[in-house]
Amino acid sequence: MRIISGLQAGASVSETVRLMAQAFRQAGLEDAEIDARALLGHALQLDRAQLISHSDRILAAREIEAASALAARRLKREPVARILGHKEFWNQMLQVTPAVLVPRPETETVVEAALAFVVRGGSRMEKLRILDIGTGSGALLLALLGELPNATGIGTDLSAAALAVARANAEANGLGSRCTFVACDFAAGVQGPFDLIVSNPPYIPRGEIASLAPEVRDYDPTLALDGGTDGLDGYRAIAAEARRLLAPSGSLIVELGGGQEPAVRALFTNAGLTVTAAHNDLTGIARALDATFMA
Ligand SMILES: C[S@@+](CC[C@H](N)C(=O)[O-])C[C@H]1O[C@@H](n2cnc3c(N)ncnc32)[C@H](O)[C@@H]1O
Repeated sequence: MRIISGLQAGASVSETVRLMAQAFRQAGLEDAEIDARALLGHALQLDRAQLISHSDRILAAREIEAASALAARRLKREPVARILGHKEFWNQMLQVTPAVLVPRPETETVVEAALAFVVRGGSRMEKLRILDIGTGSGALLLALLGELPNATGIGTDLSAAALAVARANAEANGLGSRCTFVACDFAAGVQGPFDLIVSNPPYIPRGEIASLAPEVRDYDPTLALDGGTDGLDGYRAIAAEARRLLAPSGSLIVELGGGQEPAVRALFTNAGLTVTAAHNDLTGIARALDATFMA
């Protein structure tokens, strides 16, 4: 049986995009056209503009096979970023492997909040010390080091395989000399003080993981999702370490799961932190929380 109905030798680039998008739409995929273009571009080694300028080009049989194989993976709900093996986050291209969460656009809310904190306190040129707890692909740490030319940082993760990806991403983005990576439970293996601590901890309540979209449930590492029974285990661990790690007037900024703001705010307040701001993501959900220890 053909994977993409109607796709056969002699199809042009534009016809192949149309048929792939149609198959994706029929399978209920939201971004059918975008996914089709990204995957066909990957199969043919053509960028977005070239796909348009080569729209009449006729595909060879082996190219049809390659495109069909990628489409089959997408129809099994494998995310496009995993099929391509990379994802752009805050202007940096990051490698993704099965060991790491695919960086999400909403996580850029944490980067924005962190940069706002830096600018409030002085300049982007300061020699800030940054800690990223649960760094995964290195997304948060590398975005910040890219923006703060004199900053240095440490990324932690329980997964050695994730840290290998973060390290490779640091090197690929020219930031390897300003960061180190430590395998440990949250921040147990690092010494402070840090001017800025950021984290996007696993925050899905364990019982909800089974009902997540297949792209997340079946492809993101469970370690990156599972926040314990109520989803808050990571925040508890971070709050417990904050006093030891945060420099005076330093800021702790965490990503929040939808609806978690009141619970995380309470948890941080109980740990002696003062919550200074909450930031919404582009969909209007409270996505990042800033906290500090008041003098
Ligand atoms: C939600 S992912 C965030 C990854 C990355 N910071 C990002 O924003 O894309 C959470 C990360 O925390 C790591 N992690 C989970 N439990 C951990 C623990 N106990 N100690 C350290 N890291 C942990 C996971 O391996 C995963 O990389």
